[in-house]
Amino acid sequence: MAIRIIREIGDEILTKQSREVTELTDRVSQLIDDMLETMHDAGGVGLAAPQVGVLKRVVVIDVSGEDEEPNPIIMINPRITASSGEQTGDEGCLSVPGKVGTVTRPDFVKAVYLDRDMKPCEIEATELLARAICHELDHLDGHLYVEKAEGDLRDTRTEEEE
Ligand code: NI
Repeated sequence: MAIRIIREIGDEILTKQSREVTELTDRVSQLIDDMLETMHDAGGVGLAAPQVGVLKRVVVIDVSGEDEEPNPIIMINPRITASSGEQTGDEGCLSVPGKVGTVTRPDFVKAVYLDRDMKPCEIEATELLARAICHELDHLDGHLYVEKAEGDLRDTRTEEEE
């Protein structure tokens, strides 16, 4: 496993459409391992392949708390099939370091995806996990949360001091 460099806002790759994964190659397996390590190292809740410069439809999400066991979800070719409700809250992104913004997302989503063995799976998610799924899937279509943020982004440093 290796920690990969996280691309930051302004990098054109973050605006591009990612391609479906058709086959579980060693390269894809390696990508998944590296994404997990990179996400955990950076203390993030999720990471999408374009954030490490790879235009493939792969995301990893881990909403477990700091003092809990890591519990990552690996999603290949994910697609939201249902959503409902609304939640408004702070969102950040490893590609937009030091910033948070207020974003409204569905409060419930259902998604289908392939797991790391390419087995079809379905997940129902609420609250933070629902938000994370929406955020990471947006990356696969070249979108960042900053496009959806209400008002200005804020500094995380200021938040901590307040
Ligand atoms: Ni992000």
